[in-house]
Amino acid sequence: MKGIVLAGGLGTRLFPLTKITNKHLLPIYEKPMIYYPIETLINAGITDIMIVIGGNHAGDFLRLIGNGKEFGLKHINYTYQEGEGGIAAALSLAEYFADGEPICVVLGDNIIEKNIIKAVNDFKKQKKGAKIMLKEVPDPERFGVAEIVNGKLIGIEEKPKKPKSNLAVIGIYMYDERVFDIIKTLKPSARGELEITDVNNFYVKEGTMTWEMLKGWWTDAGTFESLLRANILVAQTGANNID
Ligand code: G1P
Repeated sequence: MKGIVLAGGLGTRLFPLTKITNKHLLPIYEKPMIYYPIETLINAGITDIMIVIGGNHAGDFLRLIGNGKEFGLKHINYTYQEGEGGIAAALSLAEYFADGEPICVVLGDNIIEKNIIKAVNDFKKQKKGAKIMLKEVPDPERFGVAEIVNGKLIGIEEKPKKPKSNLAVIGIYMYDERVFDIIKTLKPSARGELEITDVNNFYVKEGTMTWEMLKGWWTDAGTFESLLRANILVAQTGANNID
């Protein structure tokens, strides 16, 4: 399985912090934000990793991460997203890197307390389809929200005004090799983006989407409030802990 970290975008919700650097290079307690999703993948045994970068400060990623030696990697791959087109558009740039293998995608601003080792191992046994991870949150309207009836995943709504549950779809996704063909069929959403939620709903409709609850805390870090929360949580417990 290959790993992909999505670290593009302009980080406009964090302006002016993102005026002279990329959101994913901002500090979360003792490390730059991008370190955490890379460590999430490595902890789960995924060492063949590509980072999709974008925006105005792409060269800084190379200066910071280099060839991945600091993470114990022999090599790390990069690609560049021109403009902004949404998460699914950023992911489509990794098609040649994935080269027909299943992938685990982590959004560059998603940080977890523990690990995804079990979910990754379960997905390796799943022959076809995709897997998402869910977490109870107090503010589901900020996220993709899962509707589950009698233990069955019925659908996902992107930032619903009236969420059908308090289960957020976190920014860690596992896909089979068909994901890139599915992205090619998508149309831009009302906010003009190719939505990862549309990709996920394709698999839900097909009946091949599995889900697991995430253990430990999860946060994104793309707003002032969540950036502060991420710093506090990491300072309190650390991130990417192996139990
Ligand atoms: C994105 C996804 C959303 C998901 C969230 C997790 O939202 O669109 O479904 O729940 O990441 O961080 P964004 O942060 O891009 O608005």
